[in-house]
Amino acid sequence: MDARDLVRSVKVVGTAQGLRSLRSAWRRRRSDAVGLPPRGPERARVPGEVLGADPQPGGGVVRFARSSLLVRVTAGGAVFCGWDGAEPEPSYALDGPCPDADERVRLEPDTDGGWRVVSERVTVTVSRTGAVEMRTPGGVVLRRDLPPRWWEPAGADPEGRGVDAGGPGAVGDEPLTDGERPGAGRAVARWEHRSQVAADARFFGLGGRASGPRLRDGSYRLWNTDPGGSFGPGDDPLYLTMPVQLVVADAGTHLVFHDNSWDGTVTLREGEEGEGSGHDRPGGCRIRMEGGPLRYWVIVGTPARALQGWAALTGAPAVPPSWALGHHHARWGFGGQEEVRRVVAGYRERELPLSALHLDIDHLAGHRVFTVDAGRYPDLPGLAAELREGGTRLVSIVDPAVKAEPGTAAYDSGSAEEVFVRDARGREVRGVVWPGEAVFPDFTDPRVRKWWGGLYAERLAQGFSGVWHDMNEPVSFAAFGDPTLPRSARHALEGRGGDHREAHNVYGLAMARAGYEGLLELRPEERPFLFSRSGWAGLQRYGGSWSGDVATGWPGLRASLSLVLGLGLSGVPYSGPDVGGFTGSPSPELYLRWFQLASYLPLFRTHSAIWAGRREPWEFGESVLTHAAAALHERQRLLPYFVTLAHEARRTGAPYARPVWWRWPKDRALRDCEDAFLLGDALLVAPVLEEGAERRAVRLPRGRWYDTATGRAYEGPGQVVLDAPLSRVPVLARAGAVVPVAGADGGVELEAWTPVRGRPGRGTLVVDPGDGWDRPEVVRFVSRLRDGEVAVEREGAAEPGYPVRVRGEAPKERPRRQ
Ligand code: NOJ
Repeated sequence: MDARDLVRSVKVVGTAQGLRSLRSAWRRRRSDAVGLPPRGPERARVPGEVLGADPQPGGGVVRFARSSLLVRVTAGGAVFCGWDGAEPEPSYALDGPCPDADERVRLEPDTDGGWRVVSERVTVTVSRTGAVEMRTPGGVVLRRDLPPRWWEPAGADPEGRGVDAGGPGAVGDEPLTDGERPGAGRAVARWEHRSQVAADARFFGLGGRASGPRLRDGSYRLWNTDPGGSFGPGDDPLYLTMPVQLVVADAGTHLVFHDNSWDGTVTLREGEEGEGSGHDRPGGCRIRMEGGPLRYWVIVGTPARALQGWAALTGAPAVPPSWALGHHHARWGFGGQEEVRRVVAGYRERELPLSALHLDIDHLAGHRVFTVDAGRYPDLPGLAAELREGGTRLVSIVDPAVKAEPGTAAYDSGSAEEVFVRDARGREVRGVVWPGEAVFPDFTDPRVRKWWGGLYAERLAQGFSGVWHDMNEPVSFAAFGDPTLPRSARHALEGRGGDHREAHNVYGLAMARAGYEGLLELRPEERPFLFSRSGWAGLQRYGGSWSGDVATGWPGLRASLSLVLGLGLSGVPYSGPDVGGFTGSPSPELYLRWFQLASYLPLFRTHSAIWAGRREPWEFGESVLTHAAAALHERQRLLPYFVTLAHEARRTGAPYARPVWWRWPKDRALRDCEDAFLLGDALLVAPVLEEGAERRAVRLPRGRWYDTATGRAYEGPGQVVLDAPLSRVPVLARAGAVVPVAGADGGVELEAWTPVRGRPGRGTLVVDPGDGWDRPEVVRFVSRLRDGEVAVEREGAAEPGYPVRVRGEAPKERPRRQ
């Protein structure tokens, strides 16, 4: 027990829940003592000298003295590397079977006894000692992976493939029970992989990180974690980690994904350029994992191509129902249905649009999942119907932990079907969450997912339109140590069998799958609305995420943007923060700036803790209400654009909110710009992240950009200083952009931003298909400046088909460049 643990345990003692979490922490420790082998002597291993290679379609296997490396280029251009016999499957990240190999390429001998694969987008060379280089077709090195190193239990097979020295017998002398899985509780090999990238490279991704989006030098842990209380920019890891990085350098962009769900650490070090001396220090990445396969994917291309390739591999992002692109209001602790009515009425009286209202755990009976506190909510279906009539849907929190209490429907049916996670001796693992002592469904079992999905019938019957998955890292309160399940807890892992060391990081992902598939089966005519605090690579197939318990304060506001951008670059495009922060009471100014930022993010939701101040826009004075109303109405106006971006994300993997370097990855100043973002291709949003600021510097990418408030044109690249009064944050539109917006009558209009002469602009409209599965119509537009007039043409038609409003003045003066 370290000092922090001690403080935590002293704090909790005295409350019933505290005592439970103390007991639970001891239980977890004991479970692991018998359920996992102690770390014994280890032996280090490297691949050794090359022996030969077996070419196959797409690449082949390079054999080394003490390992082997499978290299396979797939038809889509992604490169797979698997050491020690690791194959692409099975994988929680992949969406379906591994893509086919590119039949046109095979391993061929390279100089110096190495091997290489030359494909359209990338050349992979494998040195005689196992270093792997990825180069562009022009020969520029994008990354160099050094030979890996393993530490394996000393008793393992000297070929290094038998890493499970323990086997089932590793569970002490206890006889194995039916619940025991052959793959669980094994001693496993740890490994380390070091890579070099260009001196100018910048790292992004790794899931939701509070200190990005540019990931600076430091260690980032891969273990989904509830930081407890709230978090700020210095806290790591958080709820949704993912071993995927986007590496952006002058030489090119690539995405690298280590397909391994075990605990690990990524240590990044940005490089340094030798100022013309030629002595650059390359950037470095070291990934260390506590077990699991050493296999990774590399996708080379522009940022847009890399994300498209990532979505092709791990699944297209689910498109939220269109109503989920409006404003949501949540709070932990509404008090009951009368308060909910009052809040919704408050929005209506002030003509503020409200798409959804979220009910947190306080609406449940004693915090039990899939129940309702009938005292506070005597007629939830009635309330839901009434709110929906007025255009507001209800969304329900769903936690994975089920109160261990016979007589509760979820517990009884779950026990009968044996769905709960068990320990090494076959006993149900008990933890502690909001309802008290609780058990945890094993979502890594398809049978359990099916059972769980069926439980959502109760939520639909209560009138909920969507779900909000929480506490699914998974959390089990602990007075000391890791607040999650014992690492020795057994999991089905799709029938392969294993333990929590491997299942932990995919627990939230598998829960999302259970929820999504359940909703789909129960209500096939509507696209499910689901977002989840935890997750892993592939979460986007089922839904989005949110920031979690971001601390109220200016640093928390900045962390919110970092999280959303980082998640987008990790393939999860739909997310947003708790407006105003989760804790405390924001100042009116901070609340307003948070509100303004979030109004341009995919999930636009106010939320706060039960002990925190109010978050309704009218709680902060008249002027905040006026400006928040303006942000809400602007969001409403932009809804056709948001709908378009949601469908574009599905089609291309591109996040709605993108870093400013998205189309200009070679612009180094943009690569380092973290305080603005692109909303789609058309808009550049520069939120105010600093207290008291009423002007701010905005870094512009190449081309002409219009300040949407004044219509004034600015020429990029460069930096301009724009007004950012409390009434709005600077938003710029790209010259030539055609943006679909809602007109005064609610119909779609096109806002065409004057193109630069000789440079046609573009725009897309995905016509809102509603909340079902109809294939949406995609309409494309081109804008041109002809004889000083802006013309908007619709591809394949004579007329644009929508009213066009031209905006943006022609530049009169050259803007200041810095
Ligand atoms: C933790 C979540 O992050 C937060 O949003 C929620 O309000 C609480 N759990 C209570 O359910």
